Amino acid sequence: MLGKNMTIIGGSGGMGKVFGRLFQKYGFEITLFARNKEKLIQTAIGLNMEYSLDLEECVKKADVIMVSIPITSTPQMIKKIAPLMKRDAILFDITSLKTLVYSIMQELCSKYPINCLSLHPMFGPGIKDMNNYVMISIKIGGTNNYNLLIEELFAIFQSEGLLIITTTPEEHDKTMALTLAVPHMVNILYLTLLKQSGIPLNDLTKFTGTTFLLQKVFAESIIQREMEMFGEIQMENPEFYKILDLFEGVVSKYKTMIQSKDKNAFNKTFQEGLEYSREDNHFKNSYKYFYEFMKILKK
Ligand SMILES: NC(=O)c1ccc[n+]([C@@H]2O[C@H](COP(=O)([O-])OP(=O)(O)OC[C@H]3O[C@@H](n4cnc5c(N)ncnc54)[C@H](OP(=O)(O)O)[C@@H]3O)[C@@H](O)[C@H]2O)c1
Repeated sequence: MLGKNMTIIGGSGGMGKVFGRLFQKYGFEITLFARNKEKLIQTAIGLNMEYSLDLEECVKKADVIMVSIPITSTPQMIKKIAPLMKRDAILFDITSLKTLVYSIMQELCSKYPINCLSLHPMFGPGIKDMNNYVMISIKIGGTNNYNLLIEELFAIFQSEGLLIITTTPEEHDKTMALTLAVPHMVNILYLTLLKQSGIPLNDLTKFTGTTFLLQKVFAESIIQREMEMFGEIQMENPEFYKILDLFEGVVSKYKTMIQSKDKNAFNKTFQEGLEYSREDNHFKNSYKYFYEFMKILKK
């Protein structure tokens, strides 16, 4: 049976707090670990949890360890703590890229009697209710009790309404290049492009109705998020480099098409986008949703 002593490494961060609250609700005794003492103490007091500045001590006592630190620090941290862990304990990370973490965990769980799992919640620290949100899972392996323990852990997530989908690290990183890195890039570039005009956004907004306004608000919500993580999601994923090459080609072709006033090419490009999205589940109601969002913005 799953022990209730849990350590969250990166416990003073956005996602550490979200998962701390979640596990606390299910009776776990939680110890938060991070480097900045003041922030850690403040978080621990606010959440009514224990804290520790001694990594070895809080790793050794834990039945479940969650690693919730930046993407580039996660592999080293996992390597460091695995040899210190209790027999049969669970180690899971929630970092946003998986290929490297997966190969390290695979090696560690064959070397030490621990259980490794790699998760990626498809939501951020702003979440209020997890119902119907997705948690991507990559099972790695461990002791004879692996399946039993992981099922217990999953039961907690499922009680919150989380939808668990399983994948491979390769598929995960390929998909994240498209579903995270691309929308982040497009919105960063949208603001970068508008900024070149030298016209303040408030002034531009006076001359707009719908599309610009909605896109602007979306971009503004992105640009207020976790800069370090957004950079890592793009820079640390080789799958995204391939998309950048593709993007360069698409933009260059688009430029030629517009400057040569090639209406056939434009219609073909537009039509292909339409065909691609037609089968999407949101397609039928997209225009309706658009005006629902507008209602909020026009209040
Ligand atoms: N934010 C999201 O929307 C989201 C969604 C899904 C997955 N994730 C993943 O969740 C992880 C955490 O993201 P977050 O948004 O919670 O980040 P965050 O708010 O920046 O928190 C990071 C936490 O890790 C600690 N930390 C940083 N470097 C560390 C190190 N080298 N050793 C020990 N502790 C360290 C920080 O405290 P100190 O600096 O004081 O040590 C802090 O407690 C990332 O891997 C990210 O990819 C994030």
